[in-house]
Amino acid sequence: MSRILSGMQPTGNLHLGNYLGALKNWAGMQYSHECFYCVADLHAITVPQDPQKLRQAVRETAAAYIAAGIDTKKSTLFAQSAVPAHAELIWVLATFAPLGCLILMTQFKDKTAKSRDLELLGLYAYPVLMAADILIYKATHVPVGEDQKQHLELTRDVAGAFNRQYSVEYFPLPEPVILGEAARVMSLRDGTKKMSKSDESDYSRINLTDDADAIALKFRKARTDAAPLPHTLKELETRPEADNLVTIYAALADQARKDVLTAHSGSQFSGFKKELTDLAVSRLAPITEKMRHLLQDPTEIDRILVRGADTANALAGQHMREIKDIVGLWSGK
Ligand code: ADP
Ligand code: TRP
Repeated sequence: MSRILSGMQPTGNLHLGNYLGALKNWAGMQYSHECFYCVADLHAITVPQDPQKLRQAVRETAAAYIAAGIDTKKSTLFAQSAVPAHAELIWVLATFAPLGCLILMTQFKDKTAKSRDLELLGLYAYPVLMAADILIYKATHVPVGEDQKQHLELTRDVAGAFNRQYSVEYFPLPEPVILGEAARVMSLRDGTKKMSKSDESDYSRINLTDDADAIALKFRKARTDAAPLPHTLKELETRPEADNLVTIYAALADQARKDVLTAHSGSQFSGFKKELTDLAVSRLAPITEKMRHLLQDPTEIDRILVRGADTANALAGQHMREIKDIVGLWSGK
């Protein structure tokens, strides 16, 4: 039986990249797999956070998961920090994680690029904690956007090293699941940069909480070149901004990019952007509405998170006892 684990950080608004690259694919997996979806608040504190805002951001992210189709009767939804075994396993895995590899991880490089003072142990350890999130459930598949592939490779390396060291087949080597046309959605202002929560310009991204006017304005202002939509995918290769809008359209419409081109080749971007706006609003508005509705009852979200943590703790706790047994560590009774 395959088991899924994935997660997102509860920092800031979720955006179209998070939705198309990850969240949209999660709901579809719940009927064929046993699914665990966590809100990665331990990862979030690798940069300074306001405690109250952090707790509320976890609720908002959980609401986004549910609004995007996670059925909490089928899937386990929980806050990472409510399951202590994640933080316990990271120590064991840290003994298998080469610093030389951690230093090369792009997320670490991005976050520390600004100052040497930001080179904190927690940031180095970020991908090892992600490995612990996955391995503590012995997950076999991890649906993520393209940018997380590197972290998954490290997870597989660490799991393999553990198995070899103790001569066991304990951890499965988890596979990334990268689905859909939009595994890497780019910024609306710069087609060579990933759409990201941390981009200073709000015009670079569509947030899941943006209303129809904001979505229309952002697509209207999105950078493009002067040429109309081309006939072939090959012609998009040198036009990153045009490519990005076609990719977003394809993912939202559940079409292949080449079919989007067949339907729109020769059109001007001004017209295409209007259609893209209508499509995005029709897909996102129900999610935004559901999120708003769910957030009116935060105690219900808290209840869901507590129930999810109970289920997650039962499995993670059992695995942690087995892991301690393999390593020769002590469990309580
Ligand atoms: P951000 O990069 O905005 O901080 P996260 O790192 O929290 O977002 O990413 C959460 C999930 O969303 C991951 O699975 C990641 O791969 C996916 N994701 C983030 N940005 C994008 C993007 N621009 N395109 C596709 N997927 C993305
Ligand atoms: N590191 C991921 C990101 O920045 C978020 C994350 C935390 C995650 N734990 C995970 C993703 C476990 C997949 C599986 O997007």
